[in-house]
Amino acid sequence: MAVLVTGGMGYIGSHTTISLIEAGQEVIIVDDLSNSSVVVLNRIEAITGVRPKFYELNVMDESALTQVFSENEIESVIHFAAYKAVGESVEKPLEYYTNNIVNTLTLLRVMKAHGVHKFVFSSSATVYGDPHKCPITEDFPLSTTNPYGSTKLMIEDMLRDIAKADATFNVAILRYFNPVGAHKSGTIGEEPNGIPNNLMPYITKVAVGKLSRLNVFGDDYPTHDGTGVRDYIHVVDLADGHVKALQKLDELPGLVTYNLGTGNGLSVLDLVKAFSEASGQEIPYQIVARRAGDIAMCYADASLANKELGWTAKYGVKEMCEDSWRWQSNNPNGYEI
Ligand code: WQD
Repeated sequence: MAVLVTGGMGYIGSHTTISLIEAGQEVIIVDDLSNSSVVVLNRIEAITGVRPKFYELNVMDESALTQVFSENEIESVIHFAAYKAVGESVEKPLEYYTNNIVNTLTLLRVMKAHGVHKFVFSSSATVYGDPHKCPITEDFPLSTTNPYGSTKLMIEDMLRDIAKADATFNVAILRYFNPVGAHKSGTIGEEPNGIPNNLMPYITKVAVGKLSRLNVFGDDYPTHDGTGVRDYIHVVDLADGHVKALQKLDELPGLVTYNLGTGNGLSVLDLVKAFSEASGQEIPYQIVARRAGDIAMCYADASLANKELGWTAKYGVKEMCEDSWRWQSNNPNGYEI
């Protein structure tokens, strides 16, 4: 019986595929390659010795997706496939709602038609909006400040309604904080299209000489050094959290929700300093105006995942920076050959 990983050629999807294979799972990947490269398949095979079955398709293509379920014995699904750039979602809300919501509804319909009842959903800490305090627990109020976040919250609401109506449907909603880092091999990692929106890939592009300096979006937040504080979590820790969540669904728990974070808040300047120490690369920066929509502070209380999944983040900021740097310095042009 196989695990279907949608978006499995992407940053978190590829790392999760490796953790699943190393846990003895058979993995099938569907991906439209809109934000990833087929080269990743070779890298997964080189790391694990296994080449997962891969179908190039968009999850909204119901007939192609139905064929995948008809041709394979699929027991569960981990759903990563989505557009995920906050800023882009503000400019292109219709594309974001169409792609993220419709692809999920199509997937859920095809799962139901084939009697597949285990679903792990890639959600995000962005559904907490601007939290009234930190650390954040899973029962905090939910709100969003951009269309990307709204797609995540809408899908969570859909899953809660479906699980209420269908006792056979078992769902794990995983709320990621800020994924960074890369597999120790340095052969797979984060490769955003164009100029990175997120902090760590921007830092690594400065370190490798592709960008001249980092713009720090504001140093007047109510934090220890005035710059934004986030919960950075190693992508391999995140991947392992998915393996544990899948195992949890074997207990037929209905719908469960977990924060996947470290519980530690680091500021922008903390991360810049840690990266310089880990990589030996100076990161020139300038303080500029705040970025619209940014919040001051966001970090997790991840004790529920520890209690119910037996999961906790293992890697600290030193490994996160070392592993991000190894990926970027080995692959200055990402997956371009
Ligand atoms: C982190 C901190 C910025 C870039 C977003 C999404 C979230 C998830 C992760 C998808 C903030 C500062 C950043 C830069 C900077 N994405 N920063 N200069 O905004 O916390 O979260 O990405 O799931 O859903 O909301 O991450 O890395 O963009 O920003 O100063 O060039 O770094 O202000 O304080 P964010 P980020």
